[in-house]
Amino acid sequence: MKRTVIAATGLYTPPFSISNEELVTAFNAYVANFNAQHAAEIAAGQVQALLPSTAEFVQKASGIKSRFVMNKSGIIDPELMRPVIPERSNDELSVLAEMAVAAARDAIAAWGKPVSEIGTVLCACSNMQRAYPAMAVEIQNALGIEGFGFDMNVACSSATFGIKVATDFIASNPDKAVLMVNPEICSAHLNFKDRDSHFIFGDVATAVILESSTRAGPGGWDILGTRLKTEFSSNIRNNFGFLNNAAPEGKGAPDKLFVQQGRRVFKDIVPMVSEMILAHGAELGLDQAKVKRLWLHQANVNMNDLIARRVLGREPTAEENVVVIDTYANTSSAGSIIAFHLFHDGFAEGEIGLICSFGAGYSAGTVFVRKR
Ligand code: COA
Repeated sequence: MKRTVIAATGLYTPPFSISNEELVTAFNAYVANFNAQHAAEIAAGQVQALLPSTAEFVQKASGIKSRFVMNKSGIIDPELMRPVIPERSNDELSVLAEMAVAAARDAIAAWGKPVSEIGTVLCACSNMQRAYPAMAVEIQNALGIEGFGFDMNVACSSATFGIKVATDFIASNPDKAVLMVNPEICSAHLNFKDRDSHFIFGDVATAVILESSTRAGPGGWDILGTRLKTEFSSNIRNNFGFLNNAAPEGKGAPDKLFVQQGRRVFKDIVPMVSEMILAHGAELGLDQAKVKRLWLHQANVNMNDLIARRVLGREPTAEENVVVIDTYANTSSAGSIIAFHLFHDGFAEGEIGLICSFGAGYSAGTVFVRKR
């Protein structure tokens, strides 16, 4: 049977890491400055004093211990609290494209075939650097790939949606491979002044090369099936957009960065995703208990524990339920692909695993794979 194969993956990890302690120190300095500056209004009850953050809360509530970022100095400067990434001229490779190209080169090297065998580039991620031209076309150009590329954004679920799109392309044109990249500068859409969410995200880029089983060499992973689902919710939202320029009063407002109702998201997503995985596995005739490994989206370690327990019907082992959120934090679309890239060893031919993502939209995608 002709199938789409995940032939290779790649990873680009940014040069800087910020520990919870470093992040919380900066946040608490910002809070102390704010409260000192507004002491009179706070005393008069006109302004609410800000509360400090703690490294212990962050780790306990999310499982995050540190995150990688493209710029550290700006984020941990209490006067700035945002990454400082200088704009580049139109003659230079864009920073988001640079990250994607690095991840793609890692994947291409592992694949061992020439880029002339790739016909499509999908840039599937949460936050594109600009409106147009598409990031994918710039990445395609930088890698010397002939064919076409386009961007797609399904927030944290972008990578599994990208795998599904690639699978459909390959079914209709088995002669060409697809390169799917997930560059994420999540630190640029995170509000580092918000106590509830300042710790959540990190930066990274991942890449996946998919091709037809008719062309694939030995190794890699057969895609057994893909399922996608979306259900509208404003519980994870970012209102940044070009209309904000026309409405200056909206510029810089907190809703132009990431905002979420974290508890609501947790409660809504766990049943939605667990049921989706179980239904998809059943449709494929898989014995759920025999799924060897889960590479879940990395948003919250407690959420992943719950989903894994529901899916496997027992307590998952550390090997079964891969965790990368501790060192990478939430990297949106890239999380499940980092997990897959770093922890796919130890599979015998025929053994099955699951790549699954979920997030804003709401959106969720499941991809069952079998070791070739
Ligand atoms: N430091 C210390 N305490 C903090 C804090 C911080 N940075 N932020 C919040 N708290 C406190 C709150 O004030 C609250 O105190 P209270 O109980 O006295 O009112 C308490 O900790 C619990 O806060 P809450 O925000 O409800 O925590 P939580 O356990 O729900 O964890 C998230 C928060 C965001 C980590 C968690 O809800 C989550 O990960 N949800 C899923 C999010 C998700 O998947 N999003 C997708 C994004 S793509």
